Amino acid sequence: MQTRIFSSAEISQAAELLKKGEIVAFPTETVYGLGGNVFSLEAIQKIYQVKGRPQDNPLIVHLSHIMDIERLAIAVPDEFYLLAEAFFPGPLTLVLKRNPNIPSSVCAGLNSIAVRMPAHPIAIDLISAVGNPLVAPSANISGKPSSTNLNHVLQDFQGKIAGVIDGGDCPLGIESTVLSLIDPAVPKLLRPGEITSNQIEKILKRKISSFEKEKDGHLALVSPGMKYRHYAPNAPLRLFSSFLKLSAYIASVPFLKRMLLSSQKIENSFPLCDCFFLSNQTLYNLLRQADEKGYEEVVVFCDEKILNNQALMNRLTKAAEK
Ligand code: TXA
Ligand code: MG
Repeated sequence: MQTRIFSSAEISQAAELLKKGEIVAFPTETVYGLGGNVFSLEAIQKIYQVKGRPQDNPLIVHLSHIMDIERLAIAVPDEFYLLAEAFFPGPLTLVLKRNPNIPSSVCAGLNSIAVRMPAHPIAIDLISAVGNPLVAPSANISGKPSSTNLNHVLQDFQGKIAGVIDGGDCPLGIESTVLSLIDPAVPKLLRPGEITSNQIEKILKRKISSFEKEKDGHLALVSPGMKYRHYAPNAPLRLFSSFLKLSAYIASVPFLKRMLLSSQKIENSFPLCDCFFLSNQTLYNLLRQADEKGYEEVVVFCDEKILNNQALMNRLTKAAEK
C-alpha cells in the first residue's frame, strides 16, 4: 500500500479515505494519532493490527464538537461538562460510560470509553470533515516511542496505512492527561500529562485520586494500557537523580556508545557521552534517535526540574522498565 502524505490544505482528501474505513495518521497538540472512523469495525481492527497493539488496550476517541459526547457516552456526569468547559479543546482525556452504540472493540470490550477534543486545527477540521468522531491511539508501533512529527509516523507506518497529514512538530510532545470519571465522586488520574492534577482539582473543587497511590493489579484493570512497557528505545534506559551516582556509574562503564539526556548543560563533565537537551518536546525524538543511531545505552539525569515534571517522569519511568 502506498501511504499518501497530505498537506493541511488536503484535509478533505484524507477525510474521504477515513470515510471508506482507511487509516490516516494526523497531528494533534500532543502527539500524532493513528486515525480511524469510530463506527468502522474494519478500521478498528486495522489499527490494532498495524500498531501491534494488545487487544485488551482500548482506544481514545476524538471529537470536534461537544454535542457528539452523547453519541459516545451515557450518563455523562456534570464533572465532564465542568472539565470540558475548562480544558476542551486541549490535552485532557476523560473516561466515561460507553454508549452501547459504540462498537465494544473500540474499547477493548470495556463498558467505558475514553474521549478527548484535540486542540489542533488539522485534527478538528479532519474530524468535522469526516462527520464522525475518530479513534486515534498514538501513532507508534506498540511499546515504542510516540510520534511527534511526520518522519516518525513514516518510520513506523510507511506502506502500512493509507495516509498521513503533515502538521509539522506537535507543540506539546507528550500524550494527554487521562482522567477516569467512571465514579464521578472519585475521579482517578490514569495518566499524567500537560494538564495537572492541581488544575483539575481546582475546577472540580475536590481532590482526585492519583494512579501512583494505587496498587498495580488494580490499575491494570482501570486502564489496561498502564500495564505494558511503553515509549522504550531498543537500548536500556537508566535514570539517575543524583549527579554523584550518575558520575560514578558513567566512570565505571566509560566506553559505551551512550546518549546522555538532561535539562542542564552537563556535557563538560561527560566528554565521552553524547549529551542532548531533554524536555517534553524533545523526548520522543531523542528516544527514536537512540534507535536510529544505534546507541548502546540512554542515561537520563533527572534533576529537580525533571523530577517535578510528572508527565515526563511517568514516560521516562515506563521507558526504563525492563
Ligand atoms: O494525547 C493523546 O492522548 C494521544 C493523541 C493522539 O490524542 N493519544 C494517545 O493514545 O496517547 P494511546 O492509545 O497511546 O493512549 C491511550 C491511553 C492508554 O493508556 C489506554 O489504556 C487508555 O488511554 N484508555 C483508553 N481507553 C480507556 C478506557 N476506556 N478506560 C481506561 N483507560 C483507557
Ligand atoms: Mg500510546
